Amino acid sequence: MNFHVLTLFPEMIEQGLHTSILGKAMEKGCITLETTNIRDFSANKYNRVDDYPYGGGAGMVMEAEPVYRACKSVEEKIGKSARTVYLTPQGRVLNQTMVEELAMEEDLILLCGHYEGIDERVLEEVVTDYISIGDYVLTGGELGAMVLIDAVSRFVPGVLSNEESSQFESLQDNLLEYPHYTRPEEWHGKKVPPVLLSGDHKKIEAWRYEKSVERTKERRPDLLKNAVFVTCAFYAPETSWKEILLQTMEEMTRYGTFLDVGRKKIRKQYNNFGSRDFLLFAVPADLPDDSPLAAHEEFFQSFHGKNTPAALIVYGDSENKDQSASQQKLLTERLTTALQDKGFRILDTCLTPESPRERLQFLLRLREKIYQGIRS
Ligand SMILES: C[S@@+](CC[C@H](N)C(=O)[O-])C[C@H]1O[C@@H](n2cnc3c(N)ncnc32)[C@H](O)[C@@H]1O
Repeated sequence: MNFHVLTLFPEMIEQGLHTSILGKAMEKGCITLETTNIRDFSANKYNRVDDYPYGGGAGMVMEAEPVYRACKSVEEKIGKSARTVYLTPQGRVLNQTMVEELAMEEDLILLCGHYEGIDERVLEEVVTDYISIGDYVLTGGELGAMVLIDAVSRFVPGVLSNEESSQFESLQDNLLEYPHYTRPEEWHGKKVPPVLLSGDHKKIEAWRYEKSVERTKERRPDLLKNAVFVTCAFYAPETSWKEILLQTMEEMTRYGTFLDVGRKKIRKQYNNFGSRDFLLFAVPADLPDDSPLAAHEEFFQSFHGKNTPAALIVYGDSENKDQSASQQKLLTERLTTALQDKGFRILDTCLTPESPRERLQFLLRLREKIYQGIRS
C-alpha cells in the first residue's frame, strides 16, 4: 500500500514513521511512504502558501492553488486519481471499520492542513473523505495522518509479523479487549487469574469474553450499546463453502457461534434470538427441489427472532454463474421476506462472496451498520 502525504512539514512525517514496525514494513516494501511539500508548489516568489481570510478574522488560510498542484503532482506520478483524505476536526471520527476499509486501497493521498485550514474551493475539488482523529483540535494534520497511517498499515498483509494479531483486538466486536498477563505468575502480591493457567481453551475464551464485556461496560458503555453476539447459521453441503463461511465469521467476530442447519439436531433445538444478537444466515441457491423456498424454510423453521438484526448470504454454483445469479436473486428476496416474518431484520444481503475482498467489503458494510446503532 502506498501512502502519499501532502504537508508543509514533511520532516515531521518522515521522522515519525520510519521507526519500529512501520519502519520495518517500509524496508520490506509492504508499504511505501512519500511526502510532498506543498510549499514547493507555491506560485509566490517568497514561497508563501497562506493568506488572510476573506471576511476578516484571526489566523491564516492555506491557498487553493499550491494544494491543488501538489495533489495533481502525486496523481500524475501514480498515473491515476486516488482516494484523497483531508485530515480535519470536521470529518468523520476515525474508527476501526473505517481503518480496515481504507486498508483495501492501493494508494491513499493524505492532505494535512495548518493554520485555520485550507481554502474550501480546493477541498471541494480534490477531497474524497474528510476524517478526524478525535474531537479536539490539533495545530496541523500531520499527527492525524500519522495516526491514520499507523492504524491502516496494521491491516496491510505482511506489516505485522503474525497477520492474525490485527484481527482480534479491542473494538472488533465493539468490545474492548480482555486484560493481558505475562510472567511472573505473581507480581506485587497480585496473581494471574487461575483460569489462564488451566490450559482449558474453552474456559479461557469464556473468561475473556466475560472480561471484555465487563471492561467495556465500565469504560466504554457507549460501545456496548451496539455490541452484538454473532451466530452464523449455515447450510453448506460443499466443504469449500463451509471453510469460506467459517473464515467470514472469524473475520466478523472473535466470539461467535456456528450452527450447521444441515444437522437435524440443530434444526430441532430452540433457536431463539433477541435484539442483542446478530444472525448471519448462509445458504446455497440451488437445492435439488422444485420449490427452493420451501426447502430453505425448513432449515430455519426453529429460528425465531425478536427484531433481531440479521444478514443473508446466498451463494451459487461457481461453475454455473449465470443460471445461478437469477436464482440467487429471487431466493434472496423471498428468504428476506420469510425471515422478516420470523422476527429478523435483514440489514444486508450478499450473493456469492467468493473473493476475500468481496467478503471483507460485505463484512465492513455490516459492521458499519452495527457501529452506527442498529437498534437506534
Ligand atoms: C488549527 S486546525 C484548523 C481547525 C479549523 N479552523 C476548524 O475549526 O475546523 C489546523 C489543521 O489541523 C488539522 N487538524 C486539527 N484537528 C484535527 C483532528 N481532530 N483530526 C484531524 N486533523 C486535525 C487539520 O488538517 C486542520 O486543517
